[in-house]
Amino acid sequence: MNSVFKKADSDVLNFLDPAYLANPYPALAALRNSAPIAKGKQVPPYGDAWTVTRYADVLTVLKDARFSVEPKRLNNGKNPMERWWLPRTFRLISEGLLNKDDPDHYRLRNLVQKAFTSRLIDGMQPHIEQMTDELLANLDTSKPVDLLHEFALPLPLAVISHMLGVPDRDRMKFRELTNGIMTGAMPVGVFSMLRAAYAMHRLMRFLDYLLKLKRREPDNRLISALVAAEQAGDSLSADELLAMLFLLLFAGHETTVNLIGSGMLALLDNPEQMQLLIDKPELAASAVEELLRYTNPVQFGASRIALEDVEIGGVKIEQNSVVVAMLSSANRDEAVFPNSETLDITRESNRHLAFGFGIHFCLGAPLARMEGHIAFGKLLKRFPNIKLAVPRDQIRWRASPVFRGLESLPVILE
Ligand code: HEM
Repeated sequence: MNSVFKKADSDVLNFLDPAYLANPYPALAALRNSAPIAKGKQVPPYGDAWTVTRYADVLTVLKDARFSVEPKRLNNGKNPMERWWLPRTFRLISEGLLNKDDPDHYRLRNLVQKAFTSRLIDGMQPHIEQMTDELLANLDTSKPVDLLHEFALPLPLAVISHMLGVPDRDRMKFRELTNGIMTGAMPVGVFSMLRAAYAMHRLMRFLDYLLKLKRREPDNRLISALVAAEQAGDSLSADELLAMLFLLLFAGHETTVNLIGSGMLALLDNPEQMQLLIDKPELAASAVEELLRYTNPVQFGASRIALEDVEIGGVKIEQNSVVVAMLSSANRDEAVFPNSETLDITRESNRHLAFGFGIHFCLGAPLARMEGHIAFGKLLKRFPNIKLAVPRDQIRWRASPVFRGLESLPVILE
């Protein structure tokens, strides 16, 4: 192996280091320079893994069918989803399309693809605009407002709940349950995994309730359509239906909330860019792409498993190795994005990987983009003088290795 490729026997990236959580980019840049394909300890449930940080290498991992997303393909008898202490709900999640290779992936994606085409999402625009207007109108401008909990979070939750047909009264319950999973898993360890597993169990019971409700009272939304596919027989099993629901609801809001929350913080940190967007609202589309690249709501997606020995960038990744492709690092790679650490909402040919690449490219990308355009556009039009309500160093990030998002965003609106 080339000597620049470090073979570490300790953490390659310490996901829980407060300095890393506050700003992961210096550590990622250091890896890109000195050890772009590095082996070391990974967060449970995996043991050792390769961490890949350069854009070109990340792209290779995402495109190459020799890398699988199915944990059970780890054929060294160490399927992490079969650890004795992991409950059935963990196995269930790996029945979702993000953890399936083709042809199962193709079959599952086909069932939901129709609901997420750009044309259908465009049709939702008036409704999303109306929900955004309502949320903004309800903000109390006389005192500091937590923009994360009062705007960035309820908007995507309302949108995905509407698409799926989750009753209004159940939305916050769902939020509480997903939050339990995110925070329950930290700090990483067997005990915290068990805590997260309990939260997961409660969430699964809630999803079960939703499915029973839709079987009893079907409507014209997505959950009812999936229930009909399951009942029709061969296209969707009961476990796959539950996993699909989990993925859509979870991915549908845990991610977009971070685009809006961290995106707004990035604009507050770069007032000249914020002013440019206020002056030229027609830049909304390129601004959202740049905010996706710059804020990286999803740091990395599903872990990949090498089905055979694969050579990347001169390094041999052995069969059965686990590979983590750091999207957040690829998006700051100077070789692809000049001045990569600078926020530039006019950036051209922005081929960021914030939505992944290849067959698992984000299903919800058209929806997330539209929510971003509407949210930033309307928020800045209504409150162009928005400011942070606390000193910058009091802003905290959630302790999650995968989702990068704020704990809260206190602002003064007027
Ligand atoms: C800013 C918002 C979002 C970001 C940054 C994001 C990011 C991603 C990424 C990186 C992947 C690929 C993961 C991998 O290859 O391992 C992905 C997949 C996925 N996303 Fe999103 N996502 C967002 C919003 C949404 C929304 C609104 C939905 C709506 C339901 C959604 C549903 C999905 C699904 C179902 C997949 C799996 C696709 C597949 O395996 O074929 N996402 N997303």
